[in-house]
Amino acid sequence: MQNGSEETWQPKILAFLCNWCSYAGADLAGTSRIQYPPNVRVIRVPCSGRINPLFLLKALQSGIDGVLVSGCHPGDCHYLTGNYIGRRKSATLKRFLEYLGIEEGRVQFSWVSAAEGGKFSQVVDDVTKDIKKLGPIKRFVKKESREFGVQRSESRNGIFKKNLRTPNE
Ligand code: FES
Repeated sequence: MQNGSEETWQPKILAFLCNWCSYAGADLAGTSRIQYPPNVRVIRVPCSGRINPLFLLKALQSGIDGVLVSGCHPGDCHYLTGNYIGRRKSATLKRFLEYLGIEEGRVQFSWVSAAEGGKFSQVVDDVTKDIKKLGPIKRFVKKESREFGVQRSESRNGIFKKNLRTPNE
């Protein structure tokens, strides 16, 4: 990181968490007051198998720097095989992202159970460190999304407010 704006840059990370395990794990981390980086915004989904790869692509296209998908451990899915389907989709998506030239670490997958608040915190910490190393997403972001990102950032507090980007970046 060379210039001042990049030194203060914080990644925007979107986490898709399955309702039955990972979301409950995140909740446990919160109620147990386990600290983790505030860069993550959570979207609760019924099951990791419900994730449509287009959700992830749309997030990246909108200027989100990294995406985390987390579900129940293999064998624990509330819908029996949803997490296997999710894992298969993620393997396919990874190859597609590689084809698009998007760095591998921008989309990450993990299994976190409802009892693993500490693991959730560790996963978020690891993902945030990985995305920080990669820097802001530049490929694949729609120009108007960057402009929209600036407008959106101005109306928010915290990291999203500090993380203003211009369309020229
Ligand atoms: Fe959690 Fe399916 S219900 S991954």
